[in-house]
Amino acid sequence: MLQPVTEPKIKVVEIKTGETYTLRTAVLRDNTPTSDPRYPEDTKSGTIHLGIHDGDELIGTSTWVINAWHQDPEAIAVQLRGMAVAKHKQGFGLGALLLDAGLAHAERLNAKYLWAKARDTALAFYLLHEFVAVGDGFTEGITQMPHHFVVRKLIMRKLIMR
Ligand SMILES: CC(C)(COP(=O)(O)OP(=O)(O)OC[C@H]1O[C@@H](n2cnc3c(N)ncnc32)[C@H](O)[C@@H]1OP(=O)(O)O)[C@@H](O)C(=O)NCCC(=O)NCCS
Repeated sequence: MLQPVTEPKIKVVEIKTGETYTLRTAVLRDNTPTSDPRYPEDTKSGTIHLGIHDGDELIGTSTWVINAWHQDPEAIAVQLRGMAVAKHKQGFGLGALLLDAGLAHAERLNAKYLWAKARDTALAFYLLHEFVAVGDGFTEGITQMPHHFVVRKLIMRKLIMR
Protein backbone atom coordinates (compact mmCIF):
# COMPACT_ATOMS: atom_id res chain seq x y z
CA MET A 1 0.00 0.00 0.00
CA LEU A 2 1.31 3.46 -0.89
CA GLN A 3 2.58 5.48 2.03
CA PRO A 4 2.06 9.24 2.10
CA VAL A 5 5.30 11.14 1.51
CA THR A 6 5.24 12.37 5.11
CA GLU A 7 5.58 8.74 6.27
CA PRO A 8 9.07 8.50 7.85
CA LYS A 9 9.91 5.39 5.83
CA ILE A 10 9.80 7.43 2.58
CA LYS A 11 13.06 9.31 2.31
CA VAL A 12 15.49 10.36 -0.37
CA VAL A 13 18.89 8.67 -0.20
CA GLU A 14 22.00 8.62 -2.33
CA ILE A 15 22.20 5.44 -4.42
CA LYS A 16 24.81 3.79 -6.60
CA THR A 17 24.78 4.03 -10.39
CA GLY A 18 23.95 0.34 -10.85
CA GLU A 19 20.92 0.66 -8.59
CA THR A 20 19.27 3.09 -11.01
CA TYR A 21 19.26 0.75 -14.01
CA THR A 22 16.20 -1.42 -13.32
CA LEU A 23 13.89 1.51 -12.66
CA ARG A 24 15.32 3.61 -15.49
CA THR A 25 14.74 0.69 -17.87
CA ALA A 26 11.18 0.07 -16.71
CA VAL A 27 10.09 3.71 -16.79
CA LEU A 28 12.35 5.54 -19.24
CA ARG A 29 13.18 2.77 -21.71
CA ASP A 30 9.65 1.55 -22.24
CA ASN A 31 8.93 1.57 -25.98
CA THR A 32 12.13 3.38 -26.85
CA PRO A 33 14.56 2.33 -29.59
CA THR A 34 17.15 1.24 -27.02
CA SER A 35 16.72 -0.43 -23.65
CA ASP A 36 20.17 0.59 -22.45
CA PRO A 37 19.65 2.57 -19.22
CA ARG A 38 23.19 3.91 -18.90
CA TYR A 39 24.23 7.53 -19.40
CA PRO A 40 27.76 8.69 -20.23
CA GLU A 41 27.42 11.17 -17.35
CA ASP A 42 26.97 8.36 -14.82
CA THR A 43 30.72 8.15 -14.44
CA LYS A 44 31.43 11.87 -14.65
CA SER A 45 33.10 13.42 -11.63
CA GLY A 46 30.53 15.02 -9.32
CA THR A 47 27.55 13.01 -10.56
CA ILE A 48 25.25 11.70 -7.84
CA HIS A 49 22.09 9.61 -7.90
CA LEU A 50 19.22 10.23 -5.51
CA GLY A 51 16.57 7.61 -4.99
CA ILE A 52 13.63 6.57 -2.87
CA HIS A 53 13.11 3.08 -1.51
CA ASP A 54 9.90 1.46 -0.38
CA GLY A 55 11.32 -1.38 1.65
CA ASP A 56 13.61 -3.27 -0.72
CA GLU A 57 12.07 -1.75 -3.84
CA LEU A 58 13.57 1.34 -5.48
CA ILE A 59 10.55 3.46 -6.44
CA GLY A 60 12.25 6.69 -7.46
CA THR A 61 15.53 7.58 -9.13
CA SER A 62 17.21 10.73 -10.37
CA THR A 63 20.70 11.65 -11.53
CA TRP A 64 22.36 15.00 -10.90
CA VAL A 65 25.25 15.97 -13.15
CA ILE A 66 27.50 19.01 -12.96
CA ASN A 67 27.04 20.25 -16.49
CA ALA A 68 26.94 23.72 -18.01
CA TRP A 69 23.70 25.35 -19.08
CA HIS A 70 24.21 26.23 -22.73
CA GLN A 71 22.88 29.78 -22.40
CA ASP A 72 25.39 30.69 -19.65
CA PRO A 73 28.29 28.25 -20.06
CA GLU A 74 30.60 29.91 -17.52
CA ALA A 75 28.16 29.54 -14.62
CA ILE A 76 27.98 26.50 -12.35
CA ALA A 77 24.99 24.41 -13.36
CA VAL A 78 23.46 21.05 -12.58
CA GLN A 79 21.65 18.87 -15.10
CA LEU A 80 18.92 16.51 -13.96
CA ARG A 81 18.87 13.23 -15.88
CA GLY A 82 17.01 9.97 -15.52
CA MET A 83 14.12 11.25 -13.41
CA ALA A 84 11.78 8.32 -12.94
CA VAL A 85 9.16 7.21 -10.44
CA ALA A 86 7.86 3.62 -10.56
CA LYS A 87 4.70 3.52 -12.64
CA HIS A 88 2.52 2.33 -9.80
CA LYS A 89 3.79 5.14 -7.52
CA GLN A 90 3.48 8.12 -9.86
CA GLY A 91 1.37 11.10 -8.91
CA PHE A 92 1.86 10.81 -5.16
CA GLY A 93 4.53 13.45 -4.64
CA LEU A 94 7.65 11.31 -4.98
CA GLY A 95 8.91 13.23 -8.01
CA ALA A 96 8.52 16.48 -6.06
CA LEU A 97 10.48 14.93 -3.18
CA LEU A 98 13.37 13.95 -5.48
CA LEU A 99 13.35 17.41 -7.03
CA ASP A 100 13.57 19.08 -3.61
CA ALA A 101 16.56 16.92 -2.68
CA GLY A 102 18.27 17.63 -6.01
CA LEU A 103 17.65 21.34 -5.63
CA ALA A 104 19.29 21.26 -2.21
CA HIS A 105 22.27 19.44 -3.77
CA ALA A 106 22.54 22.05 -6.55
CA GLU A 107 22.34 24.86 -4.02
CA ARG A 108 25.12 23.31 -1.97
CA LEU A 109 27.25 23.44 -5.12
CA ASN A 110 26.33 27.10 -5.52
CA ALA A 111 24.84 26.29 -8.89
CA LYS A 112 23.15 29.10 -10.73
CA TYR A 113 20.99 26.82 -12.86
CA LEU A 114 19.23 23.51 -12.63
CA TRP A 115 18.26 22.25 -16.06
CA ALA A 116 16.99 19.21 -17.89
CA LYS A 117 15.88 17.92 -21.24
CA ALA A 118 12.24 17.34 -20.36
CA ARG A 119 9.99 14.94 -22.17
CA ASP A 120 6.96 16.83 -23.38
CA THR A 121 4.83 14.26 -21.55
CA ALA A 122 6.44 15.44 -18.28
CA LEU A 123 6.76 19.13 -19.15
CA ALA A 124 3.88 20.14 -16.90
CA PHE A 125 5.67 18.57 -13.93
CA TYR A 126 8.67 20.84 -14.47
CA LEU A 127 6.61 23.97 -15.16
CA LEU A 128 4.75 23.33 -11.91
CA HIS A 129 8.12 23.41 -10.15
CA GLU A 130 9.34 26.81 -11.35
CA PHE A 131 11.20 25.62 -14.42
CA VAL A 132 10.71 27.48 -17.67
CA ALA A 133 10.81 25.91 -21.11
CA VAL A 134 13.51 27.35 -23.35
CA GLY A 135 13.60 27.26 -27.12
CA ASP A 136 11.78 25.13 -29.62
CA GLY A 137 10.89 21.54 -28.94
CA PHE A 138 13.17 18.84 -30.35
CA THR A 139 13.27 15.11 -30.81
CA GLU A 140 15.73 13.66 -28.32
CA GLY A 141 18.16 11.22 -29.93
CA ILE A 142 18.00 8.24 -27.58
CA THR A 143 14.27 8.06 -26.94
CA GLN A 144 13.10 9.66 -30.21
CA MET A 145 10.52 11.50 -28.10
CA PRO A 146 9.57 15.19 -28.20
CA HIS A 147 11.48 17.20 -25.58
CA HIS A 148 12.11 20.77 -24.45
CA PHE A 149 14.99 22.25 -22.53
CA VAL A 150 13.77 23.41 -19.13
CA VAL A 151 15.71 25.51 -16.65
CA ARG A 152 15.23 26.82 -13.14
CA LYS A 153 17.41 29.69 -12.01
CA LEU A 154 18.63 29.20 -8.46
CA ILE A 155 19.32 31.81 -5.85
CA MET A 156 22.98 31.37 -5.11
CA ARG A 157 23.74 30.70 -1.47
CA LYS A 158 26.89 32.81 -1.43
CA LEU A 159 24.87 35.85 -2.49
CA ILE A 160 22.48 35.30 0.40
CA MET A 161 25.37 34.97 2.87
CA ARG A 162 26.72 38.44 2.04
C1 LIG B 1 7.53 12.90 -14.19
C2 LIG B 1 7.64 12.12 -12.88
C3 LIG B 1 9.09 11.95 -12.50
C4 LIG B 1 6.95 12.95 -11.79
O1 LIG B 1 6.99 12.22 -10.59
P1 LIG B 1 5.64 11.98 -9.77
O2 LIG B 1 5.98 11.37 -8.48
O3 LIG B 1 4.68 11.26 -10.65
O4 LIG B 1 5.15 13.48 -9.60
P2 LIG B 1 4.50 14.16 -8.33
O5 LIG B 1 3.47 13.26 -7.77
O6 LIG B 1 5.57 14.67 -7.43
O7 LIG B 1 3.78 15.32 -9.09
C5 LIG B 1 3.89 16.63 -8.72
C6 LIG B 1 2.98 17.41 -9.63
O8 LIG B 1 3.35 17.31 -11.00
C7 LIG B 1 2.23 16.84 -11.78
N1 LIG B 1 2.75 15.85 -12.69
C8 LIG B 1 3.46 14.79 -12.39
N2 LIG B 1 3.79 14.12 -13.51
C9 LIG B 1 3.23 14.79 -14.52
C10 LIG B 1 3.22 14.59 -15.91
N3 LIG B 1 3.83 13.57 -16.49
N4 LIG B 1 2.56 15.49 -16.64
C11 LIG B 1 1.92 16.50 -16.04
N5 LIG B 1 1.91 16.75 -14.73
C12 LIG B 1 2.57 15.89 -13.98
C13 LIG B 1 1.28 16.21 -10.80
O9 LIG B 1 -0.04 16.39 -11.26
C14 LIG B 1 1.53 16.96 -9.52
O10 LIG B 1 0.75 18.12 -9.49
P3 LIG B 1 -0.15 18.45 -8.22
O11 LIG B 1 0.80 18.47 -7.05
O12 LIG B 1 -0.74 19.78 -8.56
O13 LIG B 1 -1.12 17.33 -8.16
C15 LIG B 1 6.94 10.74 -12.98
O14 LIG B 1 5.58 10.93 -13.25
C16 LIG B 1 7.57 9.82 -13.99
O15 LIG B 1 8.49 9.05 -13.67
N6 LIG B 1 7.07 9.86 -15.24
C17 LIG B 1 7.54 8.97 -16.30
C18 LIG B 1 8.99 9.22 -16.65
C19 LIG B 1 9.25 10.65 -17.03
O16 LIG B 1 8.55 11.24 -17.83
N7 LIG B 1 10.31 11.19 -16.42
C20 LIG B 1 10.74 12.53 -16.72
C21 LIG B 1 11.67 12.50 -17.87
S1 LIG B 1 12.14 14.15 -18.34
